[in-house]
Amino acid sequence: MKTPEKQIGARMNRVDGRQKVTGAATYSAEYQLPGITYAVLVGSTITKGRITSIDTKAAERAPGVLAVITHFNSPKVPGFDTAGKDPSQPATVGGPIKVFKDDKIRFNDQPIAIVVADSLERARFAAGLVKGQYAQEKHQTSLEAAKSQAFLPTSAKKNPKHPMNDYQRGQVDAYKTGAIKLESEYVVPTEVHQPMELQAITAHWEAPDRLTIYDKTQGTMATRRDFAREWGLPEENVKVIATYVGGAFGNALHSWQHESAAIIAARVVNRPVKLMLTREQMFTMVGYRPYTWQKLGMSATPDGKITAITHEAIGQTSTFEEFTESTLAQTRMMYESPNLTTRYRIASLDVNSPIWMRGPGEATGAFALESAMDEMAHLLNIDPLEFRLRNYTEQDPEKNRPWSSKFLKECYQLGAERVGWNKRQLKPGSLRDGDWLIGYGMGVGTFGAHRGSSKANIRLLPNGTVLLQSAVTDIGPGTATAMTQIAADTLGLAPEKIKFELGNSNFAQAPTQGGSAIVNTVGPAVQEACLALKEKLRTLAASSNAAFASAKKEDVVFAEGYLTLNGNPAARVPFADLLQQVDGGFVTVESKPQGNASKNYSMYSFSVHFAEVRVHALTGEVRVSKLVSCADAGTIVNEKTAGNQMKGGAVGGIGMALMEHAIIDDRFGRYITKDFADYHVPVHADSPDVQVAFVNKPDPYVNALGTKGIGEIAIIGVAPAIANAIFNATGKRIRELPITPDKLL
Ligand code: MOS
Repeated sequence: MKTPEKQIGARMNRVDGRQKVTGAATYSAEYQLPGITYAVLVGSTITKGRITSIDTKAAERAPGVLAVITHFNSPKVPGFDTAGKDPSQPATVGGPIKVFKDDKIRFNDQPIAIVVADSLERARFAAGLVKGQYAQEKHQTSLEAAKSQAFLPTSAKKNPKHPMNDYQRGQVDAYKTGAIKLESEYVVPTEVHQPMELQAITAHWEAPDRLTIYDKTQGTMATRRDFAREWGLPEENVKVIATYVGGAFGNALHSWQHESAAIIAARVVNRPVKLMLTREQMFTMVGYRPYTWQKLGMSATPDGKITAITHEAIGQTSTFEEFTESTLAQTRMMYESPNLTTRYRIASLDVNSPIWMRGPGEATGAFALESAMDEMAHLLNIDPLEFRLRNYTEQDPEKNRPWSSKFLKECYQLGAERVGWNKRQLKPGSLRDGDWLIGYGMGVGTFGAHRGSSKANIRLLPNGTVLLQSAVTDIGPGTATAMTQIAADTLGLAPEKIKFELGNSNFAQAPTQGGSAIVNTVGPAVQEACLALKEKLRTLAASSNAAFASAKKEDVVFAEGYLTLNGNPAARVPFADLLQQVDGGFVTVESKPQGNASKNYSMYSFSVHFAEVRVHALTGEVRVSKLVSCADAGTIVNEKTAGNQMKGGAVGGIGMALMEHAIIDDRFGRYITKDFADYHVPVHADSPDVQVAFVNKPDPYVNALGTKGIGEIAIIGVAPAIANAIFNATGKRIRELPITPDKLL
């Protein structure tokens, strides 16, 4: 009998690719519910102060307007009074949002009113008629100005083992007395996720105590929890649908004020309300990568051994939430330095809260660390790849325990060959092609291989196909495709016979899609659910064929209308017989990390990015002519979708290095970058055909699949690779992103 082809590792096309490119996929703003209404938000024109009055009369009289809601007339939201344990402390991220709760303005363009009308045009027109009056207070939106008031996050103060606490091994700030040393400051400015799909929600109260929202979110269950809490409802009364998500990069990891506002509006007009932010509101009403200042000191011996590193960072947060990220995590474990100090602080500004943006923290920290590695290699006159090899860690120097797996050296080798690293000259400015200066640079990335617990629902349908369901979302990596491949291999069934449904909080419990953890977490649940189904079928088959009674569930195979056993051609039970006996219901399986592996091993994915740049000697224009990304991410479930993720992250890294810069005019506290004309992101013409290589060796400890995660390491280390290549081309070291032509002239 023919053994089914192995699907894990295959370059399978996306199961939902056709729906996405033909427009058949339904996104959150595309649900046409009966009686649908349209909402538009009005934002504050000041940055800090109080609302003294809001003139809503003209808007209320405008044609088609159903409601104008402000803090003067907003209904009572029960969770706004009960949530937030300690009102004197700012909430950590995900805390209560409380739109239209009081007259206080905490950031520019904070929603002060929502206008609901029978068409989008009428809602937009009426929103323009709403006028707020304010008592303005002095604001601070500049991190550079607020740096001296930076503080340790409250969560770290309360818990001495908190990862945001100061970290120390060896002597404090030992680099200062080192033989060869450097000390540099770096800035990563505010960057904004700006996915293709705008943030949108369609809110529908199906009954006074039953809410359904079609929402752009990365986590249907987290969003359900947030809004159930906000309305004092049992979680099962709230349903969150996010079947398709048009990119997110982290900005839908948090529930925002616009979501609360749409739900309030739907309550008031007692009809479904659709709200989609404008591109400009995507700069102001949802999060962003926080402006972060860093200082890195490093010392080394003349033969290239790092003796000490001190890495400090100050990131920005809002006045009402303490946002933190792992900016310094990579520095603590990447290189073998006996003395190492990290200090992380945040400063409150009169801005909206930041939120994790792809490779959060680590991407920012890696810009400083990997630039400094290049600076030190240059000081020592050692090749930067050789310098990294001399400080390579064979075990985790932070936690003093082995890696679960680490094939970063293999990545170095793959990438160096592909980019043509042997052409790189030690002396900057050595390579030239006419007016173009050519240089090569590298940057390393890492991110924890996280695995949580998750469930999966599985059901055998009467037509012999298998249906799997999970509450997980897919913000782009191709989750349903990877899960289909995992299920196909586990069941021994062709992928066409499997359907994986996601994006519904009523499906089996799954975590928010983020932190590169979904294949690690949901993959094993799917695998175990498939094994549970096979066990169920094996038991049924045993009644008509004795061979099944003693068989292992792993050996059960679905093939061509029969249930069979690996290596036993006599064991064949027609599927049709079994289908009549199956109860037709779902089997739910829960999968959790087992044993002490995560205590005994340090689990990380690793990446390295190699860039070749051409810098125009007269204009300062930078072209990234080659970009090679190599990853050790454990087992690669789908080379094609995994490769797509790596390419997308690399392009994001080009944006970070050369273009992305959200700018606030601090006099007014308002963003002056408010569309794609002002806020540049790379397009096809800005990026080479990114080359991707995977080591593709299974990790023995993270899960049974051997996966480690890809999403974050795709971008972490790309920006410094490009900055280092620019230095190699020009001799100019730019430590403040983005590296625009003016900085190179
Ligand atoms: Mo990501 S920043 O975990 O969406």
